[in-house]
Amino acid sequence: MLRRRKHGPTPTHDAARTEAPAPVSEGILDQYVRSAPSRQAAIDIFAGEWSSSFPASTGLTAGTTPLFEDPRITWTIERAGGVQGKRVLELGPLEAGHTSMLHEAGATVVSIESNSRAFVKCLIVKEVLGLDRCSFLLGDFMPYLQETDERFDLVVASGVLYHSPDPLGLLESIARVASRVAIWTHYFEPEVVAADPSQTRMFVPELETVSWHGHEFELHRRNYLESLQ
Ligand SMILES: C[S@@+](CC[C@H](N)C(=O)[O-])C[C@H]1O[C@@H](n2cnc3c(N)ncnc32)[C@H](O)[C@@H]1O
Repeated sequence: MLRRRKHGPTPTHDAARTEAPAPVSEGILDQYVRSAPSRQAAIDIFAGEWSSSFPASTGLTAGTTPLFEDPRITWTIERAGGVQGKRVLELGPLEAGHTSMLHEAGATVVSIESNSRAFVKCLIVKEVLGLDRCSFLLGDFMPYLQETDERFDLVVASGVLYHSPDPLGLLESIARVASRVAIWTHYFEPEVVAADPSQTRMFVPELETVSWHGHEFELHRRNYLESLQ
């Protein structure tokens, strides 16, 4: 077995005699998988970090939220009249659960994710489940939507509108690239927020009023607080 010395300058003859041997880094050896190749081994690169559970039929173990069997996406596919042969743009795939469902239903999917760890998980899912008509892009979907010349049959924007600091701009940008959009989002409901102290503390009391194409809207800024951890 080869063992690699820690990187550093080559010691001079004198220094080599007087200094203790350079410590050997074992860290790299932890990065090797000794078991036979398996799909689960690829998933386990992020063991303990998955939100999604995989369908039981895959035999794969990850998180607990069934995002690969999500009724929101079943509904979306039904409402779209099916997605067989359609080009779908997905915003914020997280762990590619919805991407997988759209692929299963026959779509070709471009999916944009800005979180680098989530992006790598999506690539693992692509390989593990063979999502050969899906491509994942790492980056912010806003500049993409504002600049691309691509057109899509459908945009899927699930769980992203409420994260946007510019939700009206996001909606307008989505309309640049497709005439159909599926949105799932949280939204501000004053009575609900006022009745729940755990929600009230998240919101900045001052409203921001914005003008958009002659209409006025109130934006309610919500802080992430400890959930950023
Ligand atoms: C709450 S998750 C939603 C995941 C999934 N779409 C769903 O509905 O269950 C939001 C995802 O969108 C990604 N995201 C948020 N804003 C983004 C942006 N501007 N560009 C790209 N990805 C973004 C986040 O990193 C995260 O993976």
